[in-house]
Order: sequence, then C-alpha cells, then structure tokens
Amino acid sequence: MRTIAVIGAGQMGTGIAQTVAQHGMSVLLADLDQARADAGKAVIEKSLLKLVGRGKIEADAAESVLEKVTPIGEHAPFVEASLIIEAATEQEPIKKAIFEAAGKFLDANAVMASNTSSIPITRMANYSPDPERFIGLHFFNPVPVMGLIEVIPGLATAQSTTDQITNFAKSLGKEVVLSQDEPGFVVNRILLPMINEAVFVLGQSTAGIEDIDKGCRLGLNHPMGPLQLADFVGLDTCLDIIKVLYKTTRDTKYRPAPLLVKYVEAGWLGRKTGRGFYDYTGDAPVATR
Ligand code: 3HC
Repeated sequence: MRTIAVIGAGQMGTGIAQTVAQHGMSVLLADLDQARADAGKAVIEKSLLKLVGRGKIEADAAESVLEKVTPIGEHAPFVEASLIIEAATEQEPIKKAIFEAAGKFLDANAVMASNTSSIPITRMANYSPDPERFIGLHFFNPVPVMGLIEVIPGLATAQSTTDQITNFAKSLGKEVVLSQDEPGFVVNRILLPMINEAVFVLGQSTAGIEDIDKGCRLGLNHPMGPLQLADFVGLDTCLDIIKVLYKTTRDTKYRPAPLLVKYVEAGWLGRKTGRGFYDYTGDAPVATR
C-alpha cells in the first residue's frame, strides 16, 4: 500500500490515520474543510505526545509518524491513494455523498472501504465507482490500542479485494474477523443490544449508572461498563447503530431504549460533548443519575 486516504477526522478517522502512520504508511486525512482536517492532525499530535510522555515512543519517532499525516480539505489528492477509508458520521446519506464525490478520484486499481458500524456494505457499494473494489473495514475505538478489525465483503466485492484488504488489516498488527454483510456484522450485533439493554435497566431504575457499570466490569470482567462504553463510543453513534439493527431486521429486540433516545435529543452524547451518562467536565467522570 502506498498512500492511504482517510475521510473523516473525528474520533475513528484520527485513530485510523494514527495507526496507519505508525505502521509506516503515508496518510491523507480529509474532512469537509482544511480547518477540520488540521484539527484532526492536532488530535493525533496530542495522542502521540501522550505516548512520548509515558515513555512508549521516542520524541523523534512521534515526529516522523506525524510527518506522514497530511491533512486535506479536498478530494483531488485521493488519486495518489491505493486505499480510501471512509470514517464519517454513521448516516447513510452522508456516506453516500462522500462515496460519490471521492469516487471521482479513485485510482483504477485502488480500493474504497467503509468503516461503517452497521450500514449494509452491499448497498453502499453502489454509491462507489466499482462495487468489486468496495468493502467494509471496521475498526474499534481506540484504534491504536484495539486488536481487532472486521473485514466485511459485500455481495459484489471481488475475492482479490477481500484478500488485499485482509492483508492490509494484518499489516497494521491487528487480528481480522471476516463477517458476512449482515446488520451489525459480528461485534456490534452483540455489543449494541448489551449497551441498549443497560439503558433499559437504567430507565427502569433497576440500578444506578455506577452499579450497572460496576456489575459488568467486575461481574463480566469487561474493561469498561456498558454505559461508560456508550459514552466513549458516542450515544448518537450507539443510537444510529441500534436503529439500523431495528430497521433492517424489524426485530423488536433491537428497539432503542427510550432513555437513549432522550439523551441524544438532549445533546448529551457522551465524552465528546462533556456529558452523557457521566459528566466529564471535572477532573474525574461523575455519574449523572
Ligand atoms: N495511541 C496509542 N496507544 C494508546 C492510545 C492511543 N491513542 N490510547 C491509549 N493507549 C495505550 C496506552 O498507552 C496504554 O498502553 P500500556 O497498556 O502499554 O500502558 C493502553 O493503551 C491503555 O491505556 P490507558 O492506561 O490510558 O487506559 P486504560 O487501561 O483505562 O484502557 C481502554 C483504556 C483501552 C480504552 C480500555 O478501557 C478498554 O479497552 N475499553 C473498552 C474499549 C472498547 O470496548 N472499544 C470498542 C468500542 S466498540 C467500537 O469501537 C465499534 C464501533 O463501531 C462502535
């Protein structure tokens, strides 16, 4: 792989760009405009400086990783990329517009991938110039730390594309799980009902936020409780995924917890807004209920 393009300089896009650069590849980090792409690069710089501070990497190594990341506010430079990874908001119309616009600059041999959490790959492939070279490539947050990538071929994806992208994922030091193109793939199909159920448990006052999280941390040995994890992923993203599961399967077991909908309507989206199930504005997170 020569240059990798990442579209979306948010939580996932910056994590993907950092990981790719840490594995020696050049990255074009794109967002709606130059300022947002620059802000994404600043997030990567902060993350690398944290690693330097903890003695995980040398300062000059961090500097050379950072140099590999070029923030851009336009699509034209994508012609240089052998792989374009879309990591934008989890909403199909936004992704469709991105695939159509970025697709104009997809090299004849390059692959287009989506980091979607749950939207069908087979359907989104039709928004790209060549469905045979379109695939799902699902990273987990925080990308530099998490050891898994899901690879999801759509119905039209060529086997050569799946092989190439599986090798790319492994070149990032990750383990790969191959999933068929079914709603939520493997991991989110299991994770999101757990998070959603935790919100039902909270909404029914079966237990408070801290006890629900403590129960799963200590009772299941999860590193984070489900409500803490929901805040980490973003409550809007959680709601988007559970809605896709519900809409595509029409199975009521995936109906969104009313309290999750309310939190999103209130703009309490988790860590990124300073408030979700916990308040993040002080030194340590504080449960809000
Ligand atoms: N870059 C590189 N390394 C990083 C990093 C970064 N940005 N951020 C953290 N790290 C490293 C730290 O250096 C540390 O390394 P060490 O163990 O060698 O010292 C390690 O990661 C752990 O970091 P911390 O000590 O800061 O924090 P914790 O020990 O509390 O762990 C956590 C934090 C890794 C986030 C842990 O709580 C965890 O695994 N939580 C669960 C995360 C999870 O489930 N993610 C999946 C979400 S679902 C998803 O993403 C799919 C989507 O579609 C919804």
